[in-house]
Amino acid sequence: MANVVVVGAQWGDEGKGKIVDWLSERADVIARFQGGHNAGHTLVIDGKVYKLHALPSGVVRGGKLSVIGNGVVLDPWHLLNEIATIREQGVEITPETLMIAENTPLILPIHGELDRAREEAATKGTKIGTTGRGIGPCYEDKVGRRAIRVMDLADPDTLAARVDRALQHHNPLRKGLGFEEVDREALIAQLKEIAPKILPFAGPVWKVLNEKRKAGKRILFEGAQGALLDIDFGTYPFVTSSNVIAGQAATGVGIGPGSIDYVLGIVKAYTTRVGEGPFPTELLDADGQRLGERGHEFGTTTGRKRRCGWFDAALLRQTCATSGMNGICLTKLDVLDGFETLKICVGYELDGETLDYLPTAAEAQARCTPIYEEVEGWSESTEGARSWNDLPANAVKYVRHIEELIGCPVALVSTSPEREDTILVTDPFSD
Ligand code: GDP
Ligand code: IMO
Ligand code: MG
Repeated sequence: MANVVVVGAQWGDEGKGKIVDWLSERADVIARFQGGHNAGHTLVIDGKVYKLHALPSGVVRGGKLSVIGNGVVLDPWHLLNEIATIREQGVEITPETLMIAENTPLILPIHGELDRAREEAATKGTKIGTTGRGIGPCYEDKVGRRAIRVMDLADPDTLAARVDRALQHHNPLRKGLGFEEVDREALIAQLKEIAPKILPFAGPVWKVLNEKRKAGKRILFEGAQGALLDIDFGTYPFVTSSNVIAGQAATGVGIGPGSIDYVLGIVKAYTTRVGEGPFPTELLDADGQRLGERGHEFGTTTGRKRRCGWFDAALLRQTCATSGMNGICLTKLDVLDGFETLKICVGYELDGETLDYLPTAAEAQARCTPIYEEVEGWSESTEGARSWNDLPANAVKYVRHIEELIGCPVALVSTSPEREDTILVTDPFSD
């Protein structure tokens, strides 16, 4: 297989970064295709920790082309800081190794401000629990056809015209919220100041990727967030503002859907969620606390405590379908070590009826009661296992049972944050 898409199959933080980094050895290009610096992808390589938000997780290996596609929303100030931080960790990032699509919309300071103001003003039950990074407002400007895009930085007259167009919308909105009008000249000056730092990385990503594809190069697409945060198929309105599912990989960089050969879903061996919204298998008891502690479930981007719960096979069947998963990588299996019994949700009960999928309305989702199967746990350690033979029989049974319940094969298993603590069952890049 030449081109592989990696997507989160739950509510994000499934371990995409670790697996993209691991798989990137086999790839020539690593491309982000949606989301922004709301993402937080942690890589651990020989004990050294790298935290990436806007940069693709392939940057750390070196010698690969990393790409930020047009489907992403980019905060240029954040990106420059992230590049500086990662350079300090010894990773070189140059225009030869990083390309940003010219048609990528820019996140401006006013987007973050608006995002946070809306969240603060939201009443109980309407708060989304966003990362406050301006993701939603920037995507709104993109579809509202008033976004400032990377290539607009190249020409001062165009830039001024684009700023005016954006402010025509934002100033009345800000007035309504009790904010000051935007200082037009200051914003233009800020953008002009970063233009020469960003533009060397800008390029026609669609063209370069299509050329690479024709030349037989391997492209690894790195999703952010998870399918249940997808703007269409997630637990709306408690979602992010982009399409997260695998189909977005094509539009998010400008290649045809036929160029996608394999979709790998990253799946945590239990479930977590950060932010508000329905979560049928959430545990508010000692088991939930134990999952959070053993799994170090704190957000990489905001540091917030992640909500924890049992594995939900009903949701997985759904996300495997909407992304067309060819295989999954089951991560954090080691976090389940030592549980006497484990529960797996196989469907829901709602108003006396049994459902094998999560209904679409948020109100119905919130009222769904999970139907559980109980399976035996294992007392042995799986931490650091690198082959099936290293796993206790009940852990293998758990993995195989999940495979059966969700109807999708397990291609990889991850057993610690370390890059090499990974069990390879089927190589997504192999023909
Ligand atoms: P992402 O957003 O999907 O890239 O995931 P995050 O990096 O936000 O969160 C996953 C966390 O789990 C990170 O701290 C990883 O280092 C860690 N992690 C990844 N895989 C494993 C694993 O198999 N076992 C354990 N214990 N931790 C893991
Ligand atoms: P990675 O790539 C987990 C959640 C936020 C909030 C909702 C909307 O690390 O898996 P936004 O700022 O996007 O408008 O917030 O989406 N969210 C994530 N949760 N992992 C992420 O990314 C997330 N990115 C956004 O917590 O509930
Ligand atoms: Mg994360």
